[in-house]
Amino acid sequence: MKPIFVTGGAGFIGSAFVRQILEATSDVKIINFDALTYAGNLENLNDLDAARHQFVKGDICDKDAVLKALPDETDAIFNFAAESHVDRSIASASEFVMTNVLGTQILLDAARAKNVRRFVQISTDEVMGTLPEDDAAFFTENSPIEPNSPYAASKAAAEHFVRAARETFGLDTIVTRCGNNYGQRQFPEKLIPLMISNAMNDEPLPVYGDGRNVRDWIFVEDHARAIWLAYEKGKSGESYNIGARNERQNIEVVQSILDALGKPHSLIKYVDDRLGHDRRYAIDAAKTENELGWKPLTDWETGLQKTIRWYRENQDWVNHIRNGAYRDYYKKLYGMEIAQSR
Ligand SMILES: NC(=O)c1ccc[n+]([C@@H]2O[C@H](COP(=O)([O-])OP(=O)(O)OC[C@H]3O[C@@H](n4cnc5c(N)ncnc54)[C@H](O)[C@@H]3O)[C@@H](O)[C@H]2O)c1
Repeated sequence: MKPIFVTGGAGFIGSAFVRQILEATSDVKIINFDALTYAGNLENLNDLDAARHQFVKGDICDKDAVLKALPDETDAIFNFAAESHVDRSIASASEFVMTNVLGTQILLDAARAKNVRRFVQISTDEVMGTLPEDDAAFFTENSPIEPNSPYAASKAAAEHFVRAARETFGLDTIVTRCGNNYGQRQFPEKLIPLMISNAMNDEPLPVYGDGRNVRDWIFVEDHARAIWLAYEKGKSGESYNIGARNERQNIEVVQSILDALGKPHSLIKYVDDRLGHDRRYAIDAAKTENELGWKPLTDWETGLQKTIRWYRENQDWVNHIRNGAYRDYYKKLYGMEIAQSR
């Protein structure tokens, strides 16, 4: 069995990745290292094969815990662990610097100490800032690094440390930069699950500013497949943009969700814009497609239907979150209450 070490595997994308790899391979054993912050959820992992998936609760900022959990000669570290929500980084950035920057450096040091073959850093298109609205401009791997939010700045800093580990110490590294993900098990503070869960409860759907910010959406399982291919086939030191050429204005996304659920557009409530809100993200994934032989398999309509169906069928999962600390966070951010759900 080939050991791989996945951090943040109890979160949205990490758990999709873990599930996919356990299914697609037979010779890989996963150590899933996750601190179980508000965004980590063991319910995301409860039906996995214990012989090939070992969960370890731990913080990537805790060097001793990382060294203890990471076996010698591990084939790869996949670093998903992060503080991942832009709004939270605007409210308080320090946790983002700790986990996303210091935590990444601690993992890089551990990778060298334990002779790990390859380090895969899961980054984001947001490190490249924002694009003009009516332009045919896209992010490529050579776009300048110009992060605008504290979240994006912390992810950009992490990328720089990954690069430095390669240039200084010769560590084998890969960076993947993906656009906005959607799919099953995404924490309901993020746009799509927020809108689905509010709409299911007939509550107002808060939309920032004029609603015309553009995001390039990708189904989470397509992202997970691209990360695996980057690990298997990517060239050391390279970064790979991942996107499904699926640009949508936020308001279009929200309207599609309401239509799919048969709910009225009058539930939409425009709220003050997010500070420093990036206007447009759009990814040119040609390098990933050509060099790794990857392409997205799930189109937007199918992916959105699958996602909505999952939230409808897993209302307990959503309600555990909506009835917890998330309620206070939501009220502080939007100045609105969400109803207690059963
Ligand atoms: N969600 C997106 O659209 C998107 C797009 C591109 C890149 N990314 C990147 O993908 C990765 C995963 O994103 P996500 O949406 O699944 O995030 P998420 O917030 O759903 O999950 C993050 C996970 O990391 C864990 N974690 C947080 N701090 C930790 C720490 N100090 N030590 C150990 N574990 C810790 C949490 O418990 C949680 O399980 C992140 O690195 C993010 O920057 C996300």
